[in-house]
Amino acid sequence: MFEEGARLKEERGADKVFDFTLGNPEIEPPPAVLAAAQRVLASKTPHLHAYMPNAGHVRVRDAVAARLRAATGLDYTANHVIMTVGAGAALNTVLKAILDPGDEVITVAPFFAEYTFYAQNHGGRLVVVPPKQDLTPDIARIAAAITPRTRAILVNSPNNPSGVIYPASSFVEIEELLTRAEQPIVLISDEPYRALVFDDVIPPEVPPLVTRSIIATSWSKSLALAGERIGYLAFSPRMAEAAELFEACTFTSRVLGFVNAPALWQWVVAEVGDQVIDVGPYREKRDLMYEGLRRIGYECVKPQGAFYVFPRTPIDDDVAFVRWLAEEGVLTVPGSGFGMPGHIRISLTVERETIVRALPGFGRTFAKARPAGRRSAD
Ligand SMILES: Cc1ncc(COP(=O)(O)O)c(C=O)c1O
Repeated sequence: MFEEGARLKEERGADKVFDFTLGNPEIEPPPAVLAAAQRVLASKTPHLHAYMPNAGHVRVRDAVAARLRAATGLDYTANHVIMTVGAGAALNTVLKAILDPGDEVITVAPFFAEYTFYAQNHGGRLVVVPPKQDLTPDIARIAAAITPRTRAILVNSPNNPSGVIYPASSFVEIEELLTRAEQPIVLISDEPYRALVFDDVIPPEVPPLVTRSIIATSWSKSLALAGERIGYLAFSPRMAEAAELFEACTFTSRVLGFVNAPALWQWVVAEVGDQVIDVGPYREKRDLMYEGLRRIGYECVKPQGAFYVFPRTPIDDDVAFVRWLAEEGVLTVPGSGFGMPGHIRISLTVERETIVRALPGFGRTFAKARPAGRRSAD
């Protein structure tokens, strides 16, 4: 899509191409974050930029643990936290620790496309389970997907690509499943969008609900620091195997070549990691796009967080529909890439004006598709 976008811009002029494909925060990090980075760089304290324990600086992990204690009421310490090179590294670090070749990781569609490859990186296999109509987890289908090879359930809420926030009841039911399971299965909660929520919806804290839970997250989205690569893994203190997993992941993070998370950004997030970008502009763009699409006739679950909108396509073939939209200069990503054909992902990391100017193209493409219609039920 990136290359198609470049070709179209060349052909038609950049102002006639509306690129909704990339989930790359277009805003700048909060000034307090940049100021903290400058303070670290100006500091004369020795060894700020040297090797450290592979899990990260203890003072930084203490700060993260204190935030987790406040949020969850659970007894997190520095020994439950490993600083990572973003959420992507957090996920690979833990998957390498828990997977043997042939093991399975269950996820719920729609899902972040890279999960497939993250599981494969470590000999594992991603097992994708369709969601309920409202795009929240269908627990009966997750239960049916569990086999003796299942090692983890991997969920992402607020969700990329749907923006849906999973309710506490989903996690209560997952806890029941995991308690009944014949082998130890962990829940990995991938949460880089936790702070990007609208309409006063608060995503439930997972560790108080699920005993065997591991948080994988980053400041890529909440502080618009995606290029700086800073995140963490946190093992619930309620897990019997927390200490063992901490040791294992300290090792896997190293041998995967991450070694440790960037020192500069560790110091920064220790200081200002509880800040969040202003979500107001994303809410406004969510409203503009969601309401605009609904007025045209698109069906869509209203996103409550993250920065995507994930409408159904008026024809079954989402790849063909993406091509039709591209003829209007509107670039989107087919839902098939996220395990959910018949949908498209629209990223809101664009100017407000881009949405206003692209909506007529969404409208014309919808009208063009209507005679063909959908055959599938969902
Ligand atoms: C659901 C999800 N998980 C993980 C990641 C990876 O995040 P990071 O940039 O912190 O590695 C992303 C990035 O877009 C994402 O959307």
